[in-house]
Amino acid sequence: MTNQILNSTNKKPFHVAIIMDGNGRWANKQNKPRFFGHRAGAENLRSIVESCPQLGITTLTAYAFSSDNWGRPRQEVKMLMRLFNTYLQTEIKNLIKNGVKLTFLGRRDRFDTNILSKMENAEHATADGAILNLRLAVDYSARDMIIEAVKKLGTVELTRKSFSNALAKAQHSDPGALDVDLLIRTGGEKRLSDFLLWECAYAELFFSPVMWPEFNPEYLQSAVDDFKHRERRFGCIPKKMVG
Ligand code: IPE
Ligand code: IPE
Ligand code: MG
Repeated sequence: MTNQILNSTNKKPFHVAIIMDGNGRWANKQNKPRFFGHRAGAENLRSIVESCPQLGITTLTAYAFSSDNWGRPRQEVKMLMRLFNTYLQTEIKNLIKNGVKLTFLGRRDRFDTNILSKMENAEHATADGAILNLRLAVDYSARDMIIEAVKKLGTVELTRKSFSNALAKAQHSDPGALDVDLLIRTGGEKRLSDFLLWECAYAELFFSPVMWPEFNPEYLQSAVDDFKHRERRFGCIPKKMVG
């Protein structure tokens, strides 16, 4: 659906996914509690989202909370949920103003009802956004999503296409789980941490040592510039090299 809207404005689809990592270390480096880093991280997402249209990004999938993050100390999880709640309260107006369509990827049965209804309201309120498709991965585990997709398939023949559609249904995203063009991880680690395992089959990877609260639009611009110089082959041989 969103792709149709975006295509109707003649924009070439460009899907960037970001693992927003490094909030805690960024805060600790300044002798501040981890919460300080998470708050700065949430604020940083706003400026990154606002910079996407001029960089040609049509879909941004951002990893905000993994299913394994429930295993962090209770206080930290509580604080992250509080921050998420605030985000849902304060950002929606801005997203609508900027033509951003917000959806959530992941499990929905473990959030409290107050947060869940705010998530649904946010999706409803921003549904007409045609400038940027923002997908926030919350309570997200790619492996769990794959298992859910397989369960959803039932007796339907298993093909890449049918699986992809079932995956979209399982994780509540638009039909046809979108392939990622560029995957960025901030914070210096070089791993996927159970993020978009199916959709990243041919993603270009970019690892930045910059901690997420400091990853500003200029850094995003350099990642996009770097991506533009990559040669994507998808297993084939480029025409100029044949023969
Ligand atoms: C990413 O930052 C945010 C979440 C996982 C919720 P971290 O909290 O993982 O920060 P570091 O990696 O410990 O610095
Ligand atoms: C991945 O970061 C999850 C998010 C950024 C939301 P983690 O900090 O949880 O991942 P690991 O533990 O370093 O693999
Ligand atoms: Mg981390």
